[in-house]
Amino acid sequence: MKNSFVLRGDVAYSLSPKEWRTVPGGYLVCVEGRSAGVFETLPEQYTSLPVLDFSGKLIVPGLIDLHAHAPQYTYRALGMDLELLDWLNIHTFPAEARYADLDFAGAAYDRFVEDLRRSPTTRACLFATSHTDATLLLMEKLERSGLITQVGKVNMDRNCDSPAREADARTSLSETVRWLDGCGSFHRTTPILTPRFIPSCTDELMEGLGKLQRERGLPVQSHLSENFGEIAWVQELCPWSSCYGDAYDHFGLFGGENCPTVMAHCVHSGAEERALMKERGVFIAHCPESNTNLSSGIAPVRAFLTEGLRVGLGSDVAGGAQLSIFKAMALAVQVSKLRWRLTDQELAPLTAAEAFWLGTAGGGAFFGKVGSFEPGYELDALVLDDTRLSGPHNHTVSKRLEQMIYLSESADVTAKFVAGQRLF
Ligand code: GUN
Ligand code: FE
Repeated sequence: MKNSFVLRGDVAYSLSPKEWRTVPGGYLVCVEGRSAGVFETLPEQYTSLPVLDFSGKLIVPGLIDLHAHAPQYTYRALGMDLELLDWLNIHTFPAEARYADLDFAGAAYDRFVEDLRRSPTTRACLFATSHTDATLLLMEKLERSGLITQVGKVNMDRNCDSPAREADARTSLSETVRWLDGCGSFHRTTPILTPRFIPSCTDELMEGLGKLQRERGLPVQSHLSENFGEIAWVQELCPWSSCYGDAYDHFGLFGGENCPTVMAHCVHSGAEERALMKERGVFIAHCPESNTNLSSGIAPVRAFLTEGLRVGLGSDVAGGAQLSIFKAMALAVQVSKLRWRLTDQELAPLTAAEAFWLGTAGGGAFFGKVGSFEPGYELDALVLDDTRLSGPHNHTVSKRLEQMIYLSESADVTAKFVAGQRLF
């Protein structure tokens, strides 16, 4: 049987947002790319499968990055003293314009893809740039990496001085069709419609993208209610909208059964917007590092969870400087504590278990049955070597996982499996 094996080690995964299960010296069984469960002793029926022995190491689900910008990796950690709109104009748009040059794009994307491959992330939703050929090049590289990703050629036809902007709605739409036609042969790397955000897209472009979405049943990703300056601008641009989310909904680009949608940030989403997201099953990519760097604010993740919204984590490279979703987990806890302490004692801070769930099963749901080792889940797994943190204290698996959320580095990922395939 293809992609069938047993991983032996100290296994940990989420059973629910509130609870993770740990099995020291456990057996994680993979049958044809899916988990058959985690066992304390190996059941008889699986004893003929090959066992990969990672005794003493942690085995956890692969992490899910619901929101990152591949072209921004080149200038991560620059301009972090700015707010969103200035940062976009000064750093982002000029940097993205360079991806018109395929030699530049190839070299930059090689570095990004290799670092993502070595990172704890197994699946990601990625923005490229507005350039069709560079986006296809990124997708080719991701396809070869073994990672599973949804990638978007960015649409943007207004409010940008740099050549990263497309000439007009017609050009943006015809290039989008050319891009979609060019990525039909990929298996792990699939297209996701990517209007950059409302200020970047004319009504004509949004209408065309809505039509394309309905014709082809494509998923959608964008930014929502990230920053005060941005939100005020959307209200000016779309005075008819009752909230920012309504501006996407007006064009049929805001969730629903045939339009899987992930919106980054939602820092300032009010009651109406949250109710609409819940009704439409829109996923939220919570990006705590970016929201801190760009002084956007602190998203009320506790409220999202209590209200039953769908949430995962995003690095938002390069709003966030770090690729690691373990870092995003730690920051999600940290900023939730500051929000609770400084502004809102009603919303309890996140726990480590909740942050781990967000970065695995919470975001994984955007990709199907992904992000847990419960039977039936696609098997994305990381083997983490935490021996550099070990010592006489002899911590439990639970405490070791908690430490890795705060202290892990890419080099600690010693083996990685995506949908039952070993990447390294
Ligand atoms: N809003 C529109 N474009 C961007 C971007 O590139 N990064 C972030 N964080 N927000 C955006
Ligand atoms: Fe972003």
